[in-house]
Amino acid sequence: RQKIILDCDPGHDDAIALLLAARHPALELLAITTVAGNQSVEKTSTNALKVCSVAKILNVPVARGMHQPLLRPARFATDIHGESGLDGPELSSIAPLPLASQHAVDLLIELLLQSDGDIILIPTGPLTNIAAAMRREPAIVPKIQAISLMGGAISVGNVTTSAEFNIWADPEAAAIVFACGRPITMVPLEVTHQALATEEIIQRLRAMGRPVPTFVADLLHYFADSYRQVFGFPAPPIHDPCAVAAVIDPDIISGWEMHVAIETQGEWTLGRTVCDIYGKTGLPANARVGYGLQVEKFWTLLLDTFQAYD
Ligand code: BDR
Ligand code: CA
Repeated sequence: RQKIILDCDPGHDDAIALLLAARHPALELLAITTVAGNQSVEKTSTNALKVCSVAKILNVPVARGMHQPLLRPARFATDIHGESGLDGPELSSIAPLPLASQHAVDLLIELLLQSDGDIILIPTGPLTNIAAAMRREPAIVPKIQAISLMGGAISVGNVTTSAEFNIWADPEAAAIVFACGRPITMVPLEVTHQALATEEIIQRLRAMGRPVPTFVADLLHYFADSYRQVFGFPAPPIHDPCAVAAVIDPDIISGWEMHVAIETQGEWTLGRTVCDIYGKTGLPANARVGYGLQVEKFWTLLLDTFQAYD
């Protein structure tokens, strides 16, 4: 099984990515680390712990990480994910599991240093924890097998015209990670906007008649409303599970190797992932940028995994 660490900011689609990462038989989830992004790190951590509680994921440590970006104030995606970061499902009566005693950055460093270089990192929020860990202990960098991250866009962003939320929220962290020299799969909006959770998908989850698929359907119901109101989308894009799916089945996302620069200064373009499709910069490729998604295969993978929860 492929060892992974999920670094996330749940977040509706992060929660679904977590459920996929914890249960898919091809993966061994070593830890869940949380970061400020969709909401404060207190809220994203509580949300991760509640998701683990709902799904009875009892043997994976959840460690709380950075409470703000490296250089900038935290800015949350309340319009999409609500005040709790996971609005929609009734979670007030769910007791979160206990948090790990270690800070997420310490846990990332420890797990990577102890490893045989066989861990893939899956960041689905701002890249603050990963960049902080790389800065604090550079010896982890060669130990990272690969990074499969949800973030960026080849063309139009979602938080500004130029930028996607995860990269825009902490562009300096993203610049550090993209310069790290390890294999990176970037799963941009062009891919995730194909992973639309239609009403039919939600009905199929409800028809399973079990707690975890029902929970996912409740998450998607709220997420659908957000995307309808904020973007006018007919169905919500399930961004973060795409970065997990890319590890389970690398063929599910097609794309190209290219150089990606992170804009950290632009007046209008802060947080843009500048994707050098035509090799204009002459700079060596530092990422495989996703473009196509095998949509049916993606949903089969997700639905089969959620069906397998007790
Ligand atoms: C990304 O931003 C967050 O709102 C989602 O969880 C996803 O990681 C999409 O731009
Ligand atoms: Ca996220």
